[in-house]
Amino acid sequence: MVSTPKVIVVTAVFAFVLLFPFIYNAVGTGMFSEVKRPQVVIEKSGQCIKETGYMRKHHGDMLEHNRELIVREGKRDTVGLSTCRKCHSNREEFCDRCHNYVGVFPVNDYTGCFACHYYPKNKKELESARK
Ligand code: HEC
Ligand code: HEC
Ligand code: HEC
Repeated sequence: MVSTPKVIVVTAVFAFVLLFPFIYNAVGTGMFSEVKRPQVVIEKSGQCIKETGYMRKHHGDMLEHNRELIVREGKRDTVGLSTCRKCHSNREEFCDRCHNYVGVFPVNDYTGCFACHYYPKNKKELESARK
C-alpha cells in the first residue's frame, strides 16, 4: 500500500507540473496586474458638454446623430466636430490616444472621419494651418 502523505505529495507535484504553463503565462502576460488607463490629455479644465461618463460612452453615437441633424435637417448650430475642437484641440493626445488604446479605429486618417473632416493632430499642425 502507498502511504497517504506520499499520494498527496505526488498529486501536488503532478498538478503543479501540469498547471505550470498556465500559471507561467498568466503571470507573464500580466493577468494579475492592473490595466492602466490611457493617458489622455485634457487641455481645458471644467466640464465637457455633457457629464463625463455619458461622454465616454456616447460621444460616437452623439456625433453621428448630430450629423443627421446638421446635414439633413439643417440645424447648423447643433454640436459637431468643430465644437469638440474648441476644447480638445490636440487630437493626437486625446481622441487618437484613447482610440488606439481601446482598439477602435473609426477615427483614422485613411478610412475614418478625419479622412474628410479637418481636425488637426496637434498644436503644430493647428498653427501651421493658421499661417
Ligand atoms: C476616453 C476614451 C476616448 C476618447 C478620449 C475619445 N474616444 Fe471616441 N470612442 C471611444 C470608444 C471606446 C469608442 C467606441 C464606442 C462605441 O462603439 O460605442 C469611440 C467611438 C467613437 C466614434 C464612433 C465611431 C463609429 O464608427 O461608430 C467617433 C466618431 C469618435 N469616437 C470620435 C471621437 C472624437 C472626435 C474624439 C476627440 C474629440 C474622441 N472620440 C475621443 C473612446 C474615446
Ligand atoms: C467621405 C467623407 C466623409 C467621411 C468619411 C465622414 N464625413 Fe462627416 N461630413 C462629410 C460632409 C461632406 C459633410 C457635410 C459638411 C457640411 O455640410 O458642413 C459632413 C458633415 C458632418 C457633420 C456635421 C457638420 C460638422 O462639421 O459638424 C458631422 C457631425 C459629421 N460629418 C461627423 C462625422 C463623423 C463622426 C464621421 C466618422 C464616423 C464622419 N463624419 C465621416 C463628409 C464625411
Ligand atoms: C467646453 C469644452 C469642451 C467641449 C466643447 C467638449 N469637451 Fe469633452 N471634455 C471637456 C473636459 C473639461 C473634459 C474632462 C471632464 C472631467 O474631467 O470630468 C472632457 C471629457 C471628455 C471625454 C471623457 C474623457 C475621459 O477621460 O474619459 C470625452 C470622450 C470627450 N470629452 C469627448 C468630447 C467630444 C467628442 C466633444 C465634441 C462633441 C467634446 N468632448 C466637447 C471639455 C470639452
